[in-house]
Amino acid sequence: MEIGLGQSWRECVKNILIDIFATDSAFLLVNFEQLHAPSAICRLMVKDVYVFVFRKASTALRCARFCPLLSLAPRATTMLYDEFARLGVGPDDLVLDAGGRDAVHAIEIVRRLDCRAITIDPVPLHVDRARERVAAAGLEGRIDVLHAATESLPFEDASIDFVWCRDVLNHVQLDPSLREFARVLRSGGSVLVYQTFAETACEPEEARRLFAASASVAENMSAPFFETRARKAGFEVVSTEQLRGEWRERMIEDGTWDVAADLLALSRLHRREREAVEQYGRARVEAARGGLLWGIYQLLGKLCPTIYVLRRPA
Ligand SMILES: C[S@@+](CC[C@H](N)C(=O)[O-])C[C@H]1O[C@@H](n2cnc3c(N)ncnc32)[C@H](O)[C@@H]1O
Repeated sequence: MEIGLGQSWRECVKNILIDIFATDSAFLLVNFEQLHAPSAICRLMVKDVYVFVFRKASTALRCARFCPLLSLAPRATTMLYDEFARLGVGPDDLVLDAGGRDAVHAIEIVRRLDCRAITIDPVPLHVDRARERVAAAGLEGRIDVLHAATESLPFEDASIDFVWCRDVLNHVQLDPSLREFARVLRSGGSVLVYQTFAETACEPEEARRLFAASASVAENMSAPFFETRARKAGFEVVSTEQLRGEWRERMIEDGTWDVAADLLALSRLHRREREAVEQYGRARVEAARGGLLWGIYQLLGKLCPTIYVLRRPA
């Protein structure tokens, strides 16, 4: 990309966008035209930064806000059900919801796909809540709730058609869990894994603190490590999709996540950390901080939620 003397402001922004999105689509151009941007000369010299950016602030601000104006049409979290449906789950299938917490996803999957499900979780409180929810949904005949962990599944070999494992594998012992998935799945069966991995932009100290706060096994937060272990357990890695900040963008665009409120809370927590630790204890403060950072780190490219489809070869 070249941004040079004599280029108009429009041309300059267009080139930046083409460079960022690697596309010269009509969509970009249409949105670009909607800005009614005035012509201006873009120079990248220091003196010009001060004159152009600060004295002609309105033009510069429009430029800075240009990218956020362009929604990338982010998909919502519900897209994970669509991905699962694409695996071919149907009425005759038995789905294992591994680490299902309150069974909210098992309920949605059974409703959407008309299959049967078993949800497991090792936390007794979660099991109780899952049973309550399943009963309230009137799905006791189609969803079983069991107290169990991924490392030791109480099922026969090849008795499960599909595994749904959303946001769980960062907490578990990966090797025995993946071996158990492979054991209980029928041949040709698939696992849909949604898992958040650390990116290189997540500095070691940020990672250490975040993993400890979220009870995450550090090595499980590495995508290459996960893929290696999945293959070692006998799985074929059918597909990988890095969502990056997509779900979070959607939450912001829909107004269901107030990112400014989270940043405000983080700043307050940071400025009053000593008092907060005295009042609530270090573990709770770290957990609160980690929870607030989780989504923000996705926007900043430090954490990358990823969808994997693993298949047990026939
Ligand atoms: C972040 S929550 C995700 C819950 C649910 N899957 C979802 O996506 O909303 C992680 C869940 O994993 C469960 N969990 C932790 N260790 C586990 C293990 N070894 N086996 C199965 N589930 C586990 C926790 O109890 C918790 O319910």
